[in-house]
Amino acid sequence: MNYEGYNANRIDTGNRQAAKWRRMIGVRPTMIAALLAAVAVTSGLSAASTANMISVGYTSAQASRGSVIYRESCSQCHGSSLGNGEFGPPLRGGNFRAHWRGRPASGLYVKIATMPPGAANSLGQAAYSDVMAFILSSNGIPAGRQELTSDLTRLRTQIIPN
Ligand code: HEC
Repeated sequence: MNYEGYNANRIDTGNRQAAKWRRMIGVRPTMIAALLAAVAVTSGLSAASTANMISVGYTSAQASRGSVIYRESCSQCHGSSLGNGEFGPPLRGGNFRAHWRGRPASGLYVKIATMPPGAANSLGQAAYSDVMAFILSSNGIPAGRQELTSDLTRLRTQIIPN
Protein backbone atom coordinates (compact mmCIF):
# COMPACT_ATOMS: atom_id res chain seq x y z
CA MET A 1 0.00 0.00 0.00
CA ASN A 2 1.61 3.27 -1.01
CA TYR A 3 1.10 6.53 0.76
CA GLU A 4 -1.48 7.78 -1.70
CA GLY A 5 -3.48 4.59 -1.61
CA TYR A 6 -3.56 4.60 2.15
CA ASN A 7 -4.72 8.16 2.19
CA ALA A 8 -7.45 7.58 -0.37
CA ASN A 9 -8.66 4.63 1.61
CA ARG A 10 -8.94 6.71 4.76
CA ILE A 11 -10.90 9.40 2.97
CA ASP A 12 -13.21 6.76 1.58
CA THR A 13 -13.73 5.24 5.00
CA GLY A 14 -14.29 8.68 6.42
CA ASN A 15 -16.95 9.43 3.86
CA ARG A 16 -18.74 6.20 4.50
CA GLN A 17 -18.66 6.94 8.20
CA ALA A 18 -19.96 10.43 7.63
CA ALA A 19 -22.77 9.14 5.46
CA LYS A 20 -23.70 6.69 8.17
CA TRP A 21 -23.76 9.45 10.76
CA ARG A 22 -25.75 11.69 8.46
CA ARG A 23 -28.27 8.91 8.07
CA MET A 24 -28.49 8.42 11.81
CA ILE A 25 -28.35 12.03 12.90
CA GLY A 26 -30.12 13.53 9.93
CA VAL A 27 -33.07 11.23 9.68
CA ARG A 28 -33.81 10.68 13.32
CA PRO A 29 -34.20 14.26 14.49
CA THR A 30 -36.51 14.88 11.53
CA MET A 31 -38.61 11.91 12.50
CA ILE A 32 -38.64 12.92 16.14
CA ALA A 33 -39.56 16.49 15.26
CA ALA A 34 -42.39 15.26 13.04
CA LEU A 35 -43.60 12.97 15.78
CA LEU A 36 -43.51 15.72 18.38
CA ALA A 37 -45.33 18.07 16.03
CA ALA A 38 -48.02 15.45 15.43
CA VAL A 39 -48.42 14.88 19.15
CA ALA A 40 -48.62 18.63 19.76
CA VAL A 41 -51.30 19.02 17.11
CA THR A 42 -53.45 16.12 18.19
CA SER A 43 -53.17 16.57 21.94
CA GLY A 44 -52.59 20.31 21.99
CA LEU A 45 -56.17 21.38 21.49
CA SER A 46 -57.74 19.08 24.01
CA ALA A 47 -54.94 18.86 26.54
CA ALA A 48 -53.35 22.28 26.59
CA SER A 49 -55.94 24.84 25.58
CA THR A 50 -59.20 23.27 26.72
CA ALA A 51 -57.99 21.59 29.91
CA ASN A 52 -59.29 23.44 32.98
CA MET A 53 -62.05 25.02 30.90
CA ILE A 54 -65.54 24.97 32.33
CA SER A 55 -68.67 24.05 30.41
CA VAL A 56 -70.51 27.02 28.99
CA GLY A 57 -73.46 28.08 31.15
CA TYR A 58 -76.77 29.86 30.59
CA THR A 59 -80.13 30.02 32.33
CA SER A 60 -83.45 28.81 31.00
CA ALA A 61 -84.89 32.34 31.44
CA GLN A 62 -82.13 33.59 29.18
CA ALA A 63 -82.88 30.94 26.58
CA SER A 64 -86.56 31.94 26.55
CA ARG A 65 -85.62 35.57 25.96
CA GLY A 66 -83.30 34.33 23.24
CA SER A 67 -86.06 32.40 21.50
CA VAL A 68 -88.01 35.66 21.03
CA ILE A 69 -84.96 37.38 19.56
CA TYR A 70 -84.35 34.35 17.36
CA ARG A 71 -87.89 34.45 15.99
CA GLU A 72 -87.62 38.15 15.24
CA SER A 73 -84.09 38.42 13.89
CA CYS A 74 -82.77 35.02 12.82
CA SER A 75 -85.55 32.63 11.84
CA GLN A 76 -86.26 34.23 8.46
CA CYS A 77 -82.91 32.85 7.28
CA HIS A 78 -82.06 29.98 9.63
CA GLY A 79 -85.59 28.60 9.82
CA SER A 80 -88.19 28.29 12.55
CA SER A 81 -86.61 25.07 13.87
CA LEU A 82 -82.98 26.23 13.41
CA GLY A 83 -82.47 23.53 10.83
CA ASN A 84 -84.89 24.41 8.06
CA GLY A 85 -83.61 27.78 6.91
CA GLU A 86 -83.71 28.76 3.29
CA PHE A 87 -81.06 31.46 3.53
CA GLY A 88 -78.73 30.31 6.29
CA PRO A 89 -77.01 27.11 7.47
CA PRO A 90 -78.56 24.92 10.20
CA LEU A 91 -77.78 26.11 13.74
CA ARG A 92 -78.44 22.74 15.30
CA GLY A 93 -77.54 19.08 14.80
CA GLY A 94 -74.57 17.91 12.77
CA ASN A 95 -73.61 21.34 11.50
CA PHE A 96 -73.56 22.76 15.01
CA ARG A 97 -71.59 19.77 16.27
CA ALA A 98 -69.01 20.02 13.53
CA HIS A 99 -68.42 23.73 13.96
CA TRP A 100 -68.84 24.50 17.64
CA ARG A 101 -68.75 21.54 20.00
CA GLY A 102 -65.56 21.01 21.95
CA ARG A 103 -64.53 24.59 21.25
CA PRO A 104 -64.40 27.77 23.32
CA ALA A 105 -67.77 29.56 23.63
CA SER A 106 -66.13 32.79 22.48
CA GLY A 107 -65.98 31.52 18.89
CA LEU A 108 -69.72 30.99 18.63
CA TYR A 109 -70.46 34.27 20.38
CA VAL A 110 -68.24 36.22 18.00
CA LYS A 111 -69.90 34.55 15.03
CA ILE A 112 -73.40 35.26 16.32
CA ALA A 113 -72.46 38.91 16.89
CA THR A 114 -71.72 39.21 13.15
CA MET A 115 -75.39 38.41 12.49
CA PRO A 116 -77.58 39.35 10.72
CA PRO A 117 -75.19 39.54 7.77
CA GLY A 118 -74.35 43.15 7.07
CA ALA A 119 -75.61 44.28 10.48
CA ALA A 120 -72.93 43.00 12.88
CA ASN A 121 -73.35 44.07 16.51
CA SER A 122 -76.70 45.62 15.69
CA LEU A 123 -78.66 43.74 18.35
CA GLY A 124 -76.48 44.56 21.36
CA GLN A 125 -74.37 42.29 23.55
CA ALA A 126 -77.15 41.13 25.87
CA ALA A 127 -79.35 40.07 22.95
CA TYR A 128 -76.48 38.09 21.40
CA SER A 129 -75.88 36.26 24.69
CA ASP A 130 -79.59 35.51 24.99
CA VAL A 131 -79.90 34.18 21.44
CA MET A 132 -76.76 32.11 21.94
CA ALA A 133 -78.34 30.64 25.10
CA PHE A 134 -81.36 29.70 22.97
CA ILE A 135 -79.11 28.03 20.36
CA LEU A 136 -77.21 26.10 23.07
CA SER A 137 -80.51 24.98 24.57
CA SER A 138 -81.81 23.89 21.15
CA ASN A 139 -78.73 21.69 20.84
CA GLY A 140 -79.41 19.91 24.10
CA ILE A 141 -76.77 21.66 26.17
CA PRO A 142 -78.27 21.87 29.66
CA ALA A 143 -79.21 25.14 31.37
CA GLY A 144 -77.59 26.08 34.65
CA ARG A 145 -77.75 28.81 37.26
CA GLN A 146 -75.32 31.28 35.69
CA GLU A 147 -76.33 33.47 32.78
CA LEU A 148 -74.24 33.30 29.64
CA THR A 149 -71.96 36.28 29.61
CA SER A 150 -71.02 38.49 26.68
CA ASP A 151 -67.56 39.07 28.16
CA LEU A 152 -65.19 37.57 25.62
CA THR A 153 -62.39 37.04 28.12
CA ARG A 154 -64.67 34.85 30.18
CA LEU A 155 -66.21 33.15 27.15
CA ARG A 156 -62.71 32.06 26.09
CA THR A 157 -62.45 30.01 29.28
CA GLN A 158 -65.77 28.25 28.69
CA ILE A 159 -66.14 25.29 26.38
CA ILE A 160 -69.18 24.15 24.42
CA PRO A 161 -69.43 20.52 25.56
CA ASN A 162 -69.20 17.63 23.11
C1 HEC B 1 -80.39 37.48 6.13
C2 HEC B 1 -80.18 36.11 6.52
C3 HEC B 1 -79.64 35.84 7.90
C4 HEC B 1 -80.10 36.30 9.11
C5 HEC B 1 -81.27 37.24 9.38
C6 HEC B 1 -79.27 35.69 10.12
N1 HEC B 1 -78.33 34.89 9.54
FE1 HEC B 1 -76.94 33.77 10.49
N2 HEC B 1 -76.15 33.21 8.73
C7 HEC B 1 -76.64 33.57 7.48
C8 HEC B 1 -75.80 33.03 6.46
C9 HEC B 1 -75.97 33.19 4.97
C10 HEC B 1 -74.75 32.34 7.13
C11 HEC B 1 -73.57 31.58 6.48
C12 HEC B 1 -72.49 32.54 6.12
C13 HEC B 1 -71.70 32.96 7.32
O1 HEC B 1 -71.24 32.09 8.08
O2 HEC B 1 -71.53 34.16 7.52
C14 HEC B 1 -75.02 32.46 8.55
C15 HEC B 1 -74.25 31.88 9.54
C16 HEC B 1 -74.58 31.87 10.87
C17 HEC B 1 -73.88 31.15 11.89
C18 HEC B 1 -72.71 30.20 11.66
C19 HEC B 1 -73.27 28.82 11.41
C20 HEC B 1 -72.20 27.78 11.26
O3 HEC B 1 -72.24 26.78 11.97
O4 HEC B 1 -71.33 27.97 10.39
C21 HEC B 1 -74.50 31.40 13.06
C22 HEC B 1 -74.14 30.82 14.42
C23 HEC B 1 -75.58 32.30 12.79
N3 HEC B 1 -75.60 32.60 11.45
C24 HEC B 1 -76.43 32.80 13.75
C25 HEC B 1 -77.41 33.74 13.47
C26 HEC B 1 -78.22 34.37 14.50
C27 HEC B 1 -78.13 34.06 15.97
C28 HEC B 1 -79.02 35.26 13.88
C29 HEC B 1 -80.00 36.20 14.49
C30 HEC B 1 -79.45 37.15 15.44
C31 HEC B 1 -78.75 35.17 12.45
N4 HEC B 1 -77.77 34.25 12.25
C32 HEC B 1 -79.40 35.91 11.49
C33 HEC B 1 -77.77 34.28 7.24
C34 HEC B 1 -78.52 34.94 8.19
